[in-house]
Amino acid sequence: MNVDWSLDGKVAIVTGAAAGGIGEAYARTLASAGASVVCADIQGDKAELVAKAIEADGGEARAVSVDIADEASVAAMVGDTVSAFGGVDILVNNAALMLQLAPIPAMQMSRQDWDRGFAVNVTGAWLCTKAVAPEMEKRGGGRIVNQSSLGAFPAATVYGITKLALVGLTTTMAAELGPLGISVNCIAPGITESEAGKLIAGPGTPYREMLEQQAATMAVGQPEDLAGVLLLLTSPAGRWITGQVIHVSGGVVMRP
Ligand SMILES: NC(=O)c1ccc[n+]([C@@H]2O[C@H](COP(=O)([O-])OP(=O)(O)OC[C@H]3O[C@@H](n4cnc5c(N)ncnc54)[C@H](O)[C@@H]3O)[C@@H](O)[C@H]2O)c1
Repeated sequence: MNVDWSLDGKVAIVTGAAAGGIGEAYARTLASAGASVVCADIQGDKAELVAKAIEADGGEARAVSVDIADEASVAAMVGDTVSAFGGVDILVNNAALMLQLAPIPAMQMSRQDWDRGFAVNVTGAWLCTKAVAPEMEKRGGGRIVNQSSLGAFPAATVYGITKLALVGLTTTMAAELGPLGISVNCIAPGITESEAGKLIAGPGTPYREMLEQQAATMAVGQPEDLAGVLLLLTSPAGRWITGQVIHVSGGVVMRP
């Protein structure tokens, strides 16, 4: 039996793929499996660093500056991808506002911050999905992966509410797009030591200590600890999986 993990000939868009984030690890994972990767981020210069690093490793990549909350900007990102690489097979909806939202209690959040949080974290993922689905249909199918969070289980912040909404987006789009050969799944990571993640639950903080008590294995992971599940959900090996949330958090979600 041969299990096919290859992404040779595939084209992927990873949003939030700026240097130092989980999106960088996602982009490099897909490139290492053979995909041509568009590193898309509102911080275009930091996405450029990732694209250059992939090329230096022998892969194929380009950077695109995008605001995923802006429909025209998303359309331009998809148009650029199709012009450069001929189509789209994989979308990773990873871009989000996290540090900007997570610490603010819901009762103290401004309407402006609430609206922007939902516009980026929820509407942005929906806009990207809507824009790539017709391109995936042209190629006979595709893979969409949404990035939720341990912070959605249960949601205890506005950030968590947006990440829980992505679970609903996942099941809804999985049902709608399945007949087109497109799978839609969700990864829910625990605290991951990206540059931003290091600021959320540093050693000795009460949140970190709580996670350390609850985790069955590692309470905190590295961006590369998410690579295997992304490859499963995007490669031929995972073709039967759709509409699922996969928790990658050392068992914290079991709340023993
Ligand atoms: N680090 C963690 O502990 C952790 C845990 C669970 C889930 N997550 C999720 O993983 C993803 C990546 O997190 P990270 O730790 O790398 O944090 P991060 O802040 O480095 O990554 C988010 C990226 O999204 C980009 N972005 C923000 N708004 C955008 C917009 N409007 N358009 C395009 N790009 C935009 C940012 O520039 C940034 O590069 C996020 O969805 C986050 O919610 C992170």
